[in-house]
Amino acid sequence: MVPNDLRLKIFTRAVIRVTVSIVGVAAVWMSGIAIAADLGGKTVKSMCVQCHRIEGKPAPRKTKSAPDLMWAGNKYQPEWLVAWLQKPEFKHYPIGYDFRPERKKPHLALLADQAKAAAEFLAKQKDARIKVGVMKPGTPEQLAHGEKLYREHGCQNCHLTPANTPKGYVGGTSSTSFIKLSERLHADWVYRFNQNPDDFEPESGAYIPKPPLPDEDIYAITAYMMIFK
Ligand code: HEC
Ligand code: HEC
Repeated sequence: MVPNDLRLKIFTRAVIRVTVSIVGVAAVWMSGIAIAADLGGKTVKSMCVQCHRIEGKPAPRKTKSAPDLMWAGNKYQPEWLVAWLQKPEFKHYPIGYDFRPERKKPHLALLADQAKAAAEFLAKQKDARIKVGVMKPGTPEQLAHGEKLYREHGCQNCHLTPANTPKGYVGGTSSTSFIKLSERLHADWVYRFNQNPDDFEPESGAYIPKPPLPDEDIYAITAYMMIFK
């Protein structure tokens, strides 16, 4: 016969042992998740922030080494970002971000897992000024109106613009390329940028129509840009 208090002791010890091992397994499992979740943050913070800002206030292009990524979650379509980070051949700035030769070197490329993790981290870098779901595909009238405004305001003078020419595009190279824009950027970000470029790129030479265009016109221009392939 085992006395009752000894039985209780054995039982209590067994319960403690089981609990400790459950907590232990759970802790290892949770830290595994945490490491996976943070791979993107670690990748970006160790490989990207020497050139790109992931936080801070909008600043002029001449003060920066690379385009800002603090609104990346609103700006880039995730599938495109994951693919580009692995094969960054497409040039956003056709003649380089600035005129320093080291800036014209090929962009660093990531492995598939790193690219996915970095894109997941960047998808969380959101800008509260951007309302999601504002832009819808343009109607034929909006697209025609947008095209007319785009030409009249000379947007193509600084931005490569898809066109039915032998090269497949026309335009100037002093700012970003709009080739394949519809695959790369979120329409809501482009719309908000077009409403006031200075909110994103102050004193960078971005074009601000004077007088400012009404929102319907900005909407039409953006809808037109979102068919650029
Ligand atoms: C040595 C500096 C440098 C480093 C390091 C760097 N980039 Fe870049 N990045 C640039 C420059 C310059 C551009 C513009 C290049 C171009 O014309 O496409 C650019 C462009 C980009 C763009 C497109 C920007 C746009 O205009 O929309 C993204 C997204 C991007 N980089 C992400 C990253 C990520 C993520 C990392 C880290 C894994 C990284 N970059 C590391 C310099 C850098
Ligand atoms: C005088 C040259 C110039 C003209 C004309 C111009 N832009 Fe720009 N645009 C810029 C500059 C400069 C920037 C800032 C990005 C950079 O170059 O660093 C910019 C950035 C942009 C961006 C953000 C692109 C990105 O990938 O980050 C959009 C969208 C844009 N412009 C739309 C327009 C539209 C729409 C028009 C016509 C109404 C227009 N731009 C006319 C110079 C110009």
